[in-house]
Amino acid sequence: MGDDNFSNKDEAFQAFDDIPLSPANDDTMGAVIARRYGRRDMLKGSLAVTAATALFGSAALESASGPAKAATAAFAFRELEGGVDETHHVAEGYVADIVIRWGDPLAGNMTPFDPTTLTAEEQSKRFGYNNDYIAFFPLDGGNTRGLLCVNNEYVNPEVMFPGLTVRPDRDDFAKITEAHVGVEMAAHGVSIVEIALRDGRWAPVLDSKYNRRITAHTPMRFDGSAAGHDRLKTKADPTGRSGLGTLNNCAGGQTPWGTYLTGEENCNGYFWTDQKASDGKRLTKGIGGAQQNSYERYGIPSNWYSWGRFHERFNVDKEANECNRFHWIVEIDPMDPASTPVKHTALGRFRHEGAEVIVNKDGRVVVYSGDDAQFDYVYRFVSKDTYRPGDKAHNMRLLSEGTLSVARLNEDGSVQWLPLVFGEGPLTPANGFASQAEVLIDARLAGDALKATRMDRPEDVQPVPGTGKVIVILTNNERRRPEEVDKANPRPHNEFGHIIELAAPDGDHAATTFTWDMLIKCGDPRVAEVGAMWNPATSAAGWFASPDNCTIDALGRLWVATDQGSAWPKTGKADGLYAVSTEGGERGLSKLFFRVPVGAELCGPCFTPDAETLFLAVQHPATDGVRSWKPFARESTFEDPATRWPDFKPDMPPRPSIVAIRKQGGGKIGSS
Ligand code: FEO
Ligand code: CA
Ligand code: CA
Repeated sequence: MGDDNFSNKDEAFQAFDDIPLSPANDDTMGAVIARRYGRRDMLKGSLAVTAATALFGSAALESASGPAKAATAAFAFRELEGGVDETHHVAEGYVADIVIRWGDPLAGNMTPFDPTTLTAEEQSKRFGYNNDYIAFFPLDGGNTRGLLCVNNEYVNPEVMFPGLTVRPDRDDFAKITEAHVGVEMAAHGVSIVEIALRDGRWAPVLDSKYNRRITAHTPMRFDGSAAGHDRLKTKADPTGRSGLGTLNNCAGGQTPWGTYLTGEENCNGYFWTDQKASDGKRLTKGIGGAQQNSYERYGIPSNWYSWGRFHERFNVDKEANECNRFHWIVEIDPMDPASTPVKHTALGRFRHEGAEVIVNKDGRVVVYSGDDAQFDYVYRFVSKDTYRPGDKAHNMRLLSEGTLSVARLNEDGSVQWLPLVFGEGPLTPANGFASQAEVLIDARLAGDALKATRMDRPEDVQPVPGTGKVIVILTNNERRRPEEVDKANPRPHNEFGHIIELAAPDGDHAATTFTWDMLIKCGDPRVAEVGAMWNPATSAAGWFASPDNCTIDALGRLWVATDQGSAWPKTGKADGLYAVSTEGGERGLSKLFFRVPVGAELCGPCFTPDAETLFLAVQHPATDGVRSWKPFARESTFEDPATRWPDFKPDMPPRPSIVAIRKQGGGKIGSS
């Protein structure tokens, strides 16, 4: 989720006006050239260089035309056709089954889900809303039983609760009751559920001792340099070391020692003020007191939800420090349902998209994380101590101490990792930093002081095992002005995003200096003004916009999921999952594998270790930009369907859900 989850009707209608008028089945220029010259010749030798350079400029093939890199297995599946409709689609030869959806029970003695009678108490025992990141932890060391950990990022009240529609005004919470807020708080956080594969289908194990909901109320512990700092102390917790709940859990990570990491992203949206300006609108600026700079840099308060009307800790007028207790990375041990999740302050406080982990060759643990906002930064954490296989108690302290750095991507293709260490460089009391705790609490301000590179909304930052490479997904940034472009963020008004590849020297993820290279510039390669960059063999279905999450499968291959929000009419495509080649002559070639129902974003691509099951999170189906899809245009699940869509069924639109994809007859996903 980005900043656009409250896109108003005008924006939706503007987006609708941008639907391309040309037929959707046009060939890409790449396909035209491939047909003209012959596809095989196109993909090897100098013709590829000549043709692609003519199309995209010499930068397009700096990597593809270079010496062959370590071979990665090629993708093998028949590409899905693009498009938009009310259901999901998967490539031919695959089956997509729903494993679990919002509201499904996590225990065996519960009634079937009924959204019309849902209470907070009920919701806290059921699968949460808006599923995002997914991790699979095998049980018994196999691929047929395991724990699914899923982030429940945020809620869409207008499609959860009868009688609600999209708020007519951003500041209008008149119809949101305390009972609604209770359900909302219980629908956030993380769902942990045991699942088993039987007769080719995955299903929840309802009597599992591991099944657990973590919500906005679950006790948490802080560790690292900022734990116990005055700015983490509240009336409810004078120690500054224990908090309640985790929020806006977007993407995350999975540690080699079997724990789950969840990123707290747009937490600013939950903080509220009663103060109003002369026009009656609630203030969102200028009320931070001594923390003014910090509040403004983090967008606090934002009043996206009205929890602060009923819960003082979310009202900044009544509790000024609760907001400093969110925007962290949280570690959860799914194997111990009684364990207390830990907020690791050493990884810094910002709008964490995720936290992807790799063990460096010297044994230190490295975590990469993007700050998902326009013009924000890419971070890296390197642990002080080293990973000890089999010593979980030791390994669960690795994220408590280490060095956080922020990235500067230079014009010459180098990357500098700038350490967020108190007392070094500008991070001194003279510049407003009194301690390491303050550097971590205000990591964004520290990144500003260090002059990190302002990126086009960093989402997933994914190390690629065994290669020293790191994929950096940049979803978009329409606010970048022409005078603000740089080589790593080269397009003004970047509507469609791009993907960068970092390379650690000699595979050393703790090195001070990396290099970077462009992998893809997203958007329609048929439209010159878009300035896209793809492998020319990418089809009309294969190019995409607004990449968000990604994963690397067991064969080392990159899969990218998209989140266009309500801007999908600009591409005429529903969000989807794409197989993206990174090596050799196919570098930059993308193929569509799966697409979601209209209004959804696709999250959490996650494979079982044998690569025979792919779990996907279909988030907020039938919300973003649905008015732009004429057969379905509506504002609420519960709106009278007869007046809107004659084919409405009680279970339509689908609820946020986890989908399991398997090959008919078995086998590795995306392989022949
Ligand atoms: Fe929650 Fe950055 O997407
Ligand atoms: Ca995301
Ligand atoms: Ca990822």
